Amino acid sequence: MHSYSLIAPAKINLYLEIIGDRPDGYHELAMLLQSIDLADRIHLRPNGIQTIRVHCDDPQVPLDESNLAYKAAALMAGQFSDAYSRYGGVEISIQKRIPIGAGLAGGSTDAAAVLVGLNLMWSLGLTQSELQELGERLGSDVPFCIVGGTAIATGRGEQLSSLRSLDHLYAVLAKYRDLPISTVWAYKTYRQQFQNTYVAINNLVERKQRVHSGSMVAAIASQDNQRIGQLLHNDLEKVVLPAHPQVAELRDKLGQLETLGVVMSGSGSTVFALVESQFQAERVRQELRELLPDPNLELWTTRLTHMGIQVVS
Ligand code: C5P
Repeated sequence: MHSYSLIAPAKINLYLEIIGDRPDGYHELAMLLQSIDLADRIHLRPNGIQTIRVHCDDPQVPLDESNLAYKAAALMAGQFSDAYSRYGGVEISIQKRIPIGAGLAGGSTDAAAVLVGLNLMWSLGLTQSELQELGERLGSDVPFCIVGGTAIATGRGEQLSSLRSLDHLYAVLAKYRDLPISTVWAYKTYRQQFQNTYVAINNLVERKQRVHSGSMVAAIASQDNQRIGQLLHNDLEKVVLPAHPQVAELRDKLGQLETLGVVMSGSGSTVFALVESQFQAERVRQELRELLPDPNLELWTTRLTHMGIQVVS
């Protein structure tokens, strides 16, 4: 049986609107999700014993059952118990490059890679949509992480429609090292403060359909970079920025530089700027470093990509 190495890209949110409450307790969302080439590397090795073990080069990442990559392997073992008994367990090694608690779906993309890798390792022959259905049980972003690229995401974030690729664009990412933000906290706080603005449950379907003909989708279809930059939006900024002045300042400083636009990704704490070339990305990164010379501020220049999970060997 083979070992597999996979590339697991991070995602950014070009658009995140919270539409309302769902009967399952989650929020109904309208999002535009985008993969970037900042990625973790996942290595899966069969160990011949009925055990799942996680290893990671970042000591902050938990290695126990709470790790989403572990949960993905446990889900597969439970669903395909014949394969698990026949082939045995797996050693999951994660080379962590995507920061944690950053709003970049780092945990979700590792889990997505485990689903894709075990499907191959155990010769299960699952289709991409079957893998996405399994991914949905692990987290709202996992189905997107499997397919990647540029997509409209509605429902909890799992109903996807792919859009024209934006891989000609670049993003400069900025995040304070010791500032993770809990997604659960961000959504809970948003509900406490803005539930009175939510669309009623019986109007959700109509509202969801309108996302597909929205301005951002049109801007992406016509590859109108300026317009895409202007339309970057994230409702969660309304709760995260007031609670974390450092993130607000970061967004403000990045907004002073010449870019297509700036927004926070997911529930933060990453803020990113979109730009049109690698040259501009490097320039923005240097200028931001001069404006905020804090050694705790981490910066990345990345390219947008049309790729989801990739099997490299
Ligand atoms: O799906 P996932 O486990 O990644 O979501 C993390 C948390 O984010 C949920 O427990 C919920 O508090 C919040 N969330 C939400 N509505 C969504 C997605 C996430 O309220 N559509």
